[in-house]
Amino acid sequence: MESREARRREYLDAMGIDRWERRSLKPTPASPPAPAVVTTRDTTDISQMDWDLLQGAVHNCTKCALHKTRTQAVFGVGNRDADWLFIGEAPGAEEDRRGEPFVGRAGQLLNAMLFAVGLKREDVYIANVLKSRPPNNRDPQLEEVEACEPYLLRQIELIKPRIILALGRHAAHSLLKTNLALGKLRGRRLSYHNTPLVATYHPAYLLRNPVDKSKSWQDLCLARSIVGGA
Ligand code: URA
Repeated sequence: MESREARRREYLDAMGIDRWERRSLKPTPASPPAPAVVTTRDTTDISQMDWDLLQGAVHNCTKCALHKTRTQAVFGVGNRDADWLFIGEAPGAEEDRRGEPFVGRAGQLLNAMLFAVGLKREDVYIANVLKSRPPNNRDPQLEEVEACEPYLLRQIELIKPRIILALGRHAAHSLLKTNLALGKLRGRRLSYHNTPLVATYHPAYLLRNPVDKSKSWQDLCLARSIVGGA
């Protein structure tokens, strides 16, 4: 084989014909290793999310069937450094339409309750246990609460409020994992994941039962004393 090739060269040289030499097959340098992807946090772990990731996750959430019937998820609103965190049950029709919690009639009463203790809506943070509206305002179901709770827990971790106000029976029951009547839960200092919590009447209930507004006022005063003394 070697001698045949040598002879071919001699012939071609002799004939004055340029020879085509097969290029030596240089080994291609190994491509540089891909830079290591440095992940400093798990962007799918709700407990590690920052505000932007959390808000995006809530807006795109399909963890329960409520995403099929909602207009939009209702994340929460207000001061992300608030001392006071108000937690309602779930968005209603107006909240579902506008994407903000407590903007209907109950929300107007909530604003008045805030004003009564010297707070403005912008001072506090307002959220719901459920981020999506249950159809026809039906009661939240356990699996919906369980699916949504990690979002609320992360909101609480980020805000670090000094007091949580649970607004109404459903919010209180969902947070405290109890079925005790609201009348037994309100009026005392409770706790949710190490944050002091006061349960009180839902503003929508107070619109129907204004006689209980004075008890709600007492609950707000208790909350104020906890914030003041915390
Ligand atoms: N009721 C709630 O519990 N939350 C809202 O956002 C509105 C009404």
